[in-house]
Amino acid sequence: PQRILSGMQPSADSLHLGNYLGALVNWVRLQEQYDAYFFIPDLHAITVPQDPEDLRKRTRVTAAQYIAGGVDTDRATLFVQSQVPEHAQLAWVLNCLTGFGEASRMTQFKDKQQRFGADAASVGLFTYPILQVADILLYQPHGVPVGEDQRQHVELSRDLAKRFNSRYGETFTVPEVFIQKDSAKIYDLQNPAAKMSKSAASPAGLINLLDPDKVIAKRIKSAVTDDGTEIRFDREAKPGISNLLSIYSLITGRSVDTLVKEYEGKMYGHLKVDLAEAVTEHIRPIRERALELLDDPSELDRLLAHGALKARETASATLADVYEKIGFLPLG
Ligand code: TYM
Repeated sequence: PQRILSGMQPSADSLHLGNYLGALVNWVRLQEQYDAYFFIPDLHAITVPQDPEDLRKRTRVTAAQYIAGGVDTDRATLFVQSQVPEHAQLAWVLNCLTGFGEASRMTQFKDKQQRFGADAASVGLFTYPILQVADILLYQPHGVPVGEDQRQHVELSRDLAKRFNSRYGETFTVPEVFIQKDSAKIYDLQNPAAKMSKSAASPAGLINLLDPDKVIAKRIKSAVTDDGTEIRFDREAKPGISNLLSIYSLITGRSVDTLVKEYEGKMYGHLKVDLAEAVTEHIRPIRERALELLDDPSELDRLLAHGALKARETASATLADVYEKIGFLPLG
């Protein structure tokens, strides 16, 4: 089968509902049909300061949440980026193939640099997208399933793959961006103009997969809604209600149109009560399974070590080919 690859940063105490509905659900679906590689980009996480113990914990939490959310380790290859040294090795080669101006145009870097200030932003943050390109190209995937915010980085991987191929001969598969339909973008519950994000201004806008039922219900019930009383899907005029409708639709598998018909003549409060129940019911088993897995970190670490071995088989073959093509001496 063709291959796919994707990852989520271990930079918070839990994945959030945007990661889950925007990415993980799609991964779980795709792993049935593709040879899937899912990894935890901890090298990316240290582009901004991390407490070492927190990072270790968050890496395990992320792995546990992948599995609890449905990643099947018998089928997919699950690993931690830092345990596969080829990522950093290929990233160096690609750094040398990328123009300074080209890297400067990455919009996520520009956003983050603004947030941290020019001096606080690390060089790692600047070359972050190139490391991401290495993550992708090492495995020769056909597709990279991500949310819209990652499109530019996957496009850079296409550009660099083509550049390397034309300079040194056919080496890399040029990957496709697999983007979920628009409704899979989840917005902040308090500020539906912004995407749901771990760096949100207030935690009230965020639903984490490890949040207790009560917290989840409360956040949904206090979500910002819009003027008027009508429940309909309109991103421009009704961003708050539209966000709740798309969460509802993704969680239950019912179409937005069906839901809108069902809530005709009802009040925002009705929608929120039902949605709070649907989300808590859906998330509860995922939270419980993740906590169970985290109870035995040595078993989790063993699974990850096994995944890293498998990942290295593919990654080292690609890197050896690259090293040979660019003119490095063979070992021994
Ligand atoms: P990250 O960790 O920010 O996000 C992980 C995935 O979740 C999606 N996502 C969302 N989808 C819908 N609504 C939201 N509110 C929302 N927030 C996040 C993201 O689009 C993403 O798919 N640079 C990457 C990690 C990475 C990677 C890679 C991804 C490193 N190397 C190689 C793919 C391939 C990142 O920071 O994603």
